[in-house]
Amino acid sequence: MKNFAVLASGKGSNLQAILNAIKKKKIKANLNVVVSDNRNALALKRAIKEKIATVVVDPKSFKSRKDMDKAIVKELKSFGIDFVVLAGYMRILSPYFVKAYKNKILNIHPALLPSFKGAHAIRDAFRYGVKTTGVTVHFVDEKVDHGPVIAQEPVQVRNKETLKSLEARIHKVEHKLYPEVISRFAKGHLNE
Ligand code: GRF
Repeated sequence: MKNFAVLASGKGSNLQAILNAIKKKKIKANLNVVVSDNRNALALKRAIKEKIATVVVDPKSFKSRKDMDKAIVKELKSFGIDFVVLAGYMRILSPYFVKAYKNKILNIHPALLPSFKGAHAIRDAFRYGVKTTGVTVHFVDEKVDHGPVIAQEPVQVRNKETLKSLEARIHKVEHKLYPEVISRFAKGHLNE
């Protein structure tokens, strides 16, 4: 089985969906470590509860993004990590990191890329007034919210939709789609 890591900065609801899928044996891969740039991330608590190793990498202790990513890649190598899953990781990966795990880094974005990149995608799509938005899972390259698309699932914006209801519906789709894609990737059914 392949070994993977999750990188998360915040709430970790996608991490939770991944942990649940592992428990149900829907993902046949080992989640060896959860890495965060935020020591207060709820994602870390979720990992600890499931007895998954955690590593906190404090951005303040590094001169540059590359130095920080070097430290993270070193940790990942020490855990024998084959592929990396970004789940609400709020940092842009350096080219160094991307090269170290070329075509082996997945990200989930709560909009239909290439529309509505950035940290407020659900809100931006809602305010724009789109009738269809959705969720994208993609390979990570050097650019932000960019790289070959692996899977997309549309979400229709309903007539009486509020931002809150749309967020909830998008997250629900994320929590289903991401474990499915990770499962396929872990089996070697995705090639990029
Ligand atoms: C998700 O909406 C994901 O698409 C985006 O960041 C959010 C992370 O949420 N990249 P969580 O930490 O997994 O709850």
